[in-house]
Amino acid sequence: MNLQLPKEAVVIGTKAHPPDTKAFKLRLRNDNERLELRSGQFNMVGLPGFGEAPFTFSSPPQADGSFEHTIRAVGRLSKRLMRVEAGETLHVRGPFGTAWPLEQVKGRDLLVVAGGVGMIPLRPFLLEVFQKREEYGKVVVLFGARTPGELIYREEFDTWRRQPNTFLHLTVDDVPPGETWDGHTGVVTGLFSQMGIEPDNAAVLTCGPEIMMRFVARGLLLRRFPANRIYVSLERRMKCGTGHCGHCQLGPKFVCKDGPVFRYEELAGFPDTLL
Ligand SMILES: Cc1cc2nc3c(=O)[nH]c(=O)nc-3n(C[C@H](O)[C@H](O)[C@H](O)COP(=O)(O)OP(=O)(O)OC[C@H]3O[C@@H](n4cnc5c(N)ncnc54)[C@H](O)[C@@H]3O)c2cc1C
Ligand code: FES
Repeated sequence: MNLQLPKEAVVIGTKAHPPDTKAFKLRLRNDNERLELRSGQFNMVGLPGFGEAPFTFSSPPQADGSFEHTIRAVGRLSKRLMRVEAGETLHVRGPFGTAWPLEQVKGRDLLVVAGGVGMIPLRPFLLEVFQKREEYGKVVVLFGARTPGELIYREEFDTWRRQPNTFLHLTVDDVPPGETWDGHTGVVTGLFSQMGIEPDNAAVLTCGPEIMMRFVARGLLLRRFPANRIYVSLERRMKCGTGHCGHCQLGPKFVCKDGPVFRYEELAGFPDTLL
């Protein structure tokens, strides 16, 4: 399958995640084709007249060949996508990029640290771990968002917490008038004291604003988590998605083809990264 060629994908369902995010369930129009995706990878998603942008898969591979993207309205394309409904057609190119290390982290305790929409790429990883729960150790999820309303997938939290040996800790920066919250407030690294996970057999997976991942990685290094077992997923502005245009370059690496998932030790020290 030529990954450069946009393919038509039909929206077979949508789900609003208020206030500004929407999930799209899609299937390729051509029944003879399917995307061989892995959790952590992304598609370039486009709408004629509005351009295209990278969006990670928000669901793991599905037996029926469908796939999901969850998109926050921030700019020209993503705001237009909020008005797309079931039956309409999007264009997709992909899957591109590296995936979460599901095989490499088998048998390890997992610390998943997400900030805001950084939970979008981490959700398929978690769902795949839950499908084969006995193959992994303890799972601790630390999830921070600006406000309680921005804790995406909150309708799934009870199901996640019911998984064996799995713990979810939440925090928000701020509680706006009209919203209620009796949990932790402050940055996500403020949850480190509750994580209950030792570095010796742990792997860390994190996605969120780069500045958050910087403090997460540095805080965990100080707690003796090894840099080669801290995995970060980066979001950079992209154009080609295939390592040709240089838009997403980071030192000698290209986020589109060498990432978006990197081991922290691969990135630390480049001048053009906050990490
Ligand atoms: C690998 C990867 C995976 C991603 N996955 C997701 C995902 O699953 N869900 C999701 O919601 N988003 C995801 N993103 C982010 C998404 O690709 C961007 O938000 C994308 O730019 C949206 O396109 P747009 O046309 O709607 O917005 P744009 O018009 O591109 O604007 C996006 C933001 O960037 C600002 N901006 C515009 N032009 C510039 C410029 N020249 N320089 C700096 N800033 C500028 C805008 O003000 C706005 O805040 C991902 C990004 C990457 C790299
Ligand atoms: S987007 Fe063109 S090189 Fe990465």
